[in-house]
Amino acid sequence: MIHQSLLQAIGNTPIVRLPALSSVLNINVFAKLESFNPGGSHKVRIAYAMVQDAESRGILTRGSGQTVIEPSGGNTGIGLAMVCNNLGYKLVLVIPDNYSVQKQHLLRLYGATVVQSDSSKGNNSHGEKAMELQLKHPNYVMLNQQRNAANPEVHRNTTAQEIVSDFSELDMHCFVSGIGTGGHITGIGEVLKTHWTDLKVIGVEPIQCNIKSNVHAPHKIQGLSIGLVPPILNLDIVDEMVGVDYEDCVRMAANILKTDSISMGLSSAANLVAIKRIADSLRPGANVLTMVYDGIESYVPEITQQTAGLYEQPCTA
Ligand SMILES: Cc1ncc(COP(=O)(O)O)c(C=O)c1O
Repeated sequence: MIHQSLLQAIGNTPIVRLPALSSVLNINVFAKLESFNPGGSHKVRIAYAMVQDAESRGILTRGSGQTVIEPSGGNTGIGLAMVCNNLGYKLVLVIPDNYSVQKQHLLRLYGATVVQSDSSKGNNSHGEKAMELQLKHPNYVMLNQQRNAANPEVHRNTTAQEIVSDFSELDMHCFVSGIGTGGHITGIGEVLKTHWTDLKVIGVEPIQCNIKSNVHAPHKIQGLSIGLVPPILNLDIVDEMVGVDYEDCVRMAANILKTDSISMGLSSAANLVAIKRIADSLRPGANVLTMVYDGIESYVPEITQQTAGLYEQPCTA
């Protein structure tokens, strides 16, 4: 298939069964590989949808060179950079200073202006800094993924529909996914629950946090628990939250490469840690779907540092 631009190649990502993990847990674990999207994550879907929505409301005009500003932990930034470059906008991204340096370099290569926020000020330091900058530059357009209804909507209209179509001949018993802005769990969870009325939707969060009780502690799993209950999150569709430990996610991201060989970042590994935790409560053979948001590449330095010595193979050659 020939696409007229990269933006047309967004979506229709594959779902794969993880045979090794499924066999260990005695359930069927499936993952939708959003890492196959242009830019390597699910966030390009919302980047394009939010820009299209702003255009349809006359806030942005294609080719105008207007500046878009957004707080982003990296993936929304990459998606927005691709969308802005293709549609003729400038981009300013605000990123916490403890986030992947590699992603920050990458964003600059995409042509975005990157501003760092002071992560010691809390999990939403980049959101607050972006607000500050927008007040200084009122002509900047902030799409605000945490509040933008186009975020869950694109997951209702695309991601969820792709899943329903791929599972047309299978039952789904459980959907496990992390919560950052809450966009994808809301959009996908709502649609899946209308198709499988007994489906359990399990939310994943760092062990220190408890979104249902409004507890937001600092943590190291990028993309999850952003320091507030996002206005677009529909918590009513989340049946249960599972807290996961950062170290378990690091080990899972490293181990899964050796078994099912799926490249994934720490928030995606968090989903598998949560599935492992709940597997005993599911009936044998249950079908469980989760998401792989991005690949392991930009986390390699962090994972290597955390697992130093653990994965070195003796040289036998
Ligand atoms: C790597 C990663 N994982 C998970 C999430 C959470 O996705 P959502 O914002 O749809 O809740 C994000 C969001 O930024 C992310 O970048």
